Amino acid sequence: MIGLVTLAVSMMSTPELSWTEAAPGVWRAQIGKKDSPTLLEAAGAEPALDRMSSPAKRALPFDLDAVRGGLAAGRAFASVPLGKTEKIFGFGLQFQGSVRRGRVFHLKVDHYDDGQDETHAPVPLYVSEEGYAVLFNSPRHLAVYPGLGNRLDEPSNPPIRDRNTDPKWQAQPFSGMVEASATAPGMEILIFEGPTPMEAIERYNLYSGGGTLPPKWSLGFWHRTPTNATAEAIEAETTEFEERGYPLDVIGLEPGWQSKAYPGTFDWSDRLYPDPSGFVKKMTEKGLHVNLWENPYFSPQSSIYEEMKPHFATHMVWMGAVPDLLHKGASEKVMAHHARTHLDIGVSGYKIDEVDGYDQWLWPDHAMFPSGIGGEQMRQIYGSVWQRELDGMFRSRNQRTLGLVRASNAGAAKLPFAIYSDHYDHGEFIAAQISTGLAGVLWCAEIRSASNSEEWVRRMQSACLSHIAQLNAWSSGTKPWSFPEVEDEVRTAMMQRISLFPYLYTSFAKYWRDGTPPIYPMALVDGGTETDQYMLGQDLLVAPIITGTKKRNVRLPKGLWYDYYSGDRFEGGSTIEVEPPLDQIPIYVRSGSVIPTIEPALHLKDALDDPLLILRRYGTGPAQADLYDDDGETFDYEKGEGAWIDLSVVGETVTQTVEAGAWESIYKRIKLLKVGAG
Ligand code: GAL
Repeated sequence: MIGLVTLAVSMMSTPELSWTEAAPGVWRAQIGKKDSPTLLEAAGAEPALDRMSSPAKRALPFDLDAVRGGLAAGRAFASVPLGKTEKIFGFGLQFQGSVRRGRVFHLKVDHYDDGQDETHAPVPLYVSEEGYAVLFNSPRHLAVYPGLGNRLDEPSNPPIRDRNTDPKWQAQPFSGMVEASATAPGMEILIFEGPTPMEAIERYNLYSGGGTLPPKWSLGFWHRTPTNATAEAIEAETTEFEERGYPLDVIGLEPGWQSKAYPGTFDWSDRLYPDPSGFVKKMTEKGLHVNLWENPYFSPQSSIYEEMKPHFATHMVWMGAVPDLLHKGASEKVMAHHARTHLDIGVSGYKIDEVDGYDQWLWPDHAMFPSGIGGEQMRQIYGSVWQRELDGMFRSRNQRTLGLVRASNAGAAKLPFAIYSDHYDHGEFIAAQISTGLAGVLWCAEIRSASNSEEWVRRMQSACLSHIAQLNAWSSGTKPWSFPEVEDEVRTAMMQRISLFPYLYTSFAKYWRDGTPPIYPMALVDGGTETDQYMLGQDLLVAPIITGTKKRNVRLPKGLWYDYYSGDRFEGGSTIEVEPPLDQIPIYVRSGSVIPTIEPALHLKDALDDPLLILRRYGTGPAQADLYDDDGETFDYEKGEGAWIDLSVVGETVTQTVEAGAWESIYKRIKLLKVGAG
């Protein structure tokens, strides 16, 4: 009898994990066997050790020995301590907020489904208000049980209550663990120290390689043209942007640019683009960059179909053969074709579509890929691998890009792509944008269409304060001026985006250098759970207006805040009600900061030609701004070819401090603009 009891207990206990400090403040343990490629490997993530340092205070709220993990029921599992009321946030791109307790999450790459567990980027990362983050680095369908389920041998279990007599009995008793498991031979688990939640996220982003620093042009306005637009129609459209005075930096071509689509050829259409090189050259001369849509599955009519044959998976997507970019030689062929027929003639980037779609168009779990990877795992990493390979091609040319992608996962911070969706709910788009700051991904809150002019303006305003400001007219054929009664308000929103360039570019540079997300939720400021207001960089709080709403509440964290437009002053630590005019999206400026802006122009390259730096100053106290500049196009900044400028304002005097020998910035002329009475 005694022997049997001992056996039962030892079967349930879990072996201790062995932890190593993989980078300063990053703890790593392997459960079972390595399951390659992990999410981080698939994204090509390499820790930016040169930019990482040990935490100021070394304390996790639990002992690493209390983290458990093992193999059970054919699954690899991990179990991380969780406090009774501890708030955790995360699990990737989320459309309904990122507070994570009280339900099981099944993390699968998919297009928008419930917007919570099957999503475009279900990054298995959470951050705790206690100031640490956890990544389950598993390339599998992961089930996560945050504070749900009780292990028999868990010391933090609550007392057992008698339901017959005790009104405090609970159907969901407290569980002091976040457990995660997947059908896999093993799983890597990584714990990122803070000591604050923001520092834990920064550490995660730096461990992924540091955030991407996009080329300057990509922070301008993007317009995607109708699917079957001809080269002439696009030229005419870009001219109309100029004539009507709307800014434009990127022109996106949709499926029609290819000789066949769904499945595609990756070759130009002779019919719509008889002279691709001449077309791209004309765009370049106008100061525009060309982005190509791709659904990355091959038509037999592609010029490289035959050479790609050894690299296709067992299953197709919409009758297109699916290339395995992890199979030896495959990526080289695809990238060589891209380089030769697109980049060499001046194409600047890509939009990689439909690499999500778990329950619809993608391959089944039992599909096999020539590199030996099965269908389930490949779905979790396919978008990351495409991003990684395209990024590699651009890097090898010392040329930066920014593109779009429909699926991503952990380790993607340094990959120059923003996620987008066919789901088109304005409020959920804003929630999704906010959640990116917890996941090391970017988001494009694109505008496509609207049911009335008010919606057109309100959506344009929030699209313009997203990572990529884009009008996607692939199906709607809309133009910024499609609603004539609001054409001025729409232009104002687009011009505001251009004027904020120095501030936005500096925020991205901080993403690269410090890991600080360029857009982040209140969760990383003071534990706030809002899904409708966010930080744009470290000094601006944005509170978008959703169509049909005239007034809204904005919660201002502690400290003083100023209205971006009027300079009106607000005492933080309070909630204010605002009713902005139609041409303003509410923005609040953190006291003590100055906001670097420029005079807008129709193309960024013109706006950045000997720009007048306008420092928007709020209040009367001393204020400061960081300003970053570099060549904006190459990766030379990674070798120190950039300038960090400290701008200090006292009274009417601006003092600039730049490190000796730094890259010579474009900002030679400065004007201090006092906004409001302060
Ligand atoms: C969709 C995509 C749209 C557009 C369209 C073209 O999947 O989300 O943005 O590119 O395909 O067919």
